[in-house]
Amino acid sequence: MIIRTLDEVTSDAVAAMERAENPRFREIMVALVKHLHAFVREVRLTEVEFREAAAILNEMGQLSSDAHNEPVLMAGSLGVSSLVCLLNNGDGGLTETSQSVLGPFWRLNSPRVANGGSIVRSDTAGTPLLVTGRVVDTTGKPIAGAEVDVWHASPVGLYENQDLEQAEMNLRGKFTTDSEGRFWFSTVKMVGYPIPVDGVVGRMLKAQRRQPNRPAHLHALIFKPGFKVLISQVYDPSDPNIEVDPQFGVTRALLGDYVRHDEAHPSDAKIRAPWYSLDHIYVMEPGEAKLPQPPIK
Ligand code: BEZ
Ligand code: FE
Repeated sequence: MIIRTLDEVTSDAVAAMERAENPRFREIMVALVKHLHAFVREVRLTEVEFREAAAILNEMGQLSSDAHNEPVLMAGSLGVSSLVCLLNNGDGGLTETSQSVLGPFWRLNSPRVANGGSIVRSDTAGTPLLVTGRVVDTTGKPIAGAEVDVWHASPVGLYENQDLEQAEMNLRGKFTTDSEGRFWFSTVKMVGYPIPVDGVVGRMLKAQRRQPNRPAHLHALIFKPGFKVLISQVYDPSDPNIEVDPQFGVTRALLGDYVRHDEAHPSDAKIRAPWYSLDHIYVMEPGEAKLPQPPIK
């Protein structure tokens, strides 16, 4: 079509999107073009700004590698990752959910550990943390034999793959739930850490006067055939950044019961005060047990 007016650009572009055969692809592209054109009109995007936006997209691609994914970081920093998670879980967003975003640090093949074991694999100074978890279905029935992959940052805020001082797979481990859906292990208390800020996302946060630190959290990826893979993070409510997560991941259902104990452990003399405990229930929804692609190797 030979375009005569501003509005004709939009209707012609929408009509082009409508030619797709695949109905879902058609639905997504039609809505995308409608919203993009409305956005350009609303902010009256200038030509300079448009070229800048294209350069930023290009830069985000170039910043990405096997070890870093700038578009995922940007999606999280815009609240989109959290929105997609909440829209697709907890009965379509109607009820609370144990699901959260995967983040960029999950690795395949973390070492198996027996319940009661430790995931500290190299000397890692920090306060002991004893974790007990229970995996249940949406009716509260325990799920036995679920594989629970856990990982977290160190007491200095680094994942092992970011830190030459830590052993391979330090603070990572895979447990199997017992007949009551339970798993338990010892580790050291993690702290919050900054998301990578040396790229486009960092510049955006700075321009918005946003702080970059995620509140301290424990990741889990739980696998059991017959259930949707549960990707969870359990946050420490006492973290100073609990209200200002740059990834918008903190929901009420994900606030953990991290308890500080200032007296000796009742049954294990090796654990000296202070120490922490965390007891958490993970709820799995029925669905397909499909693992995500690991974001790093
Ligand atoms: C994380 O929790 O590991 C994470 C999530 C999103 C962006 C950066 C880190
Ligand atoms: Fe994390």
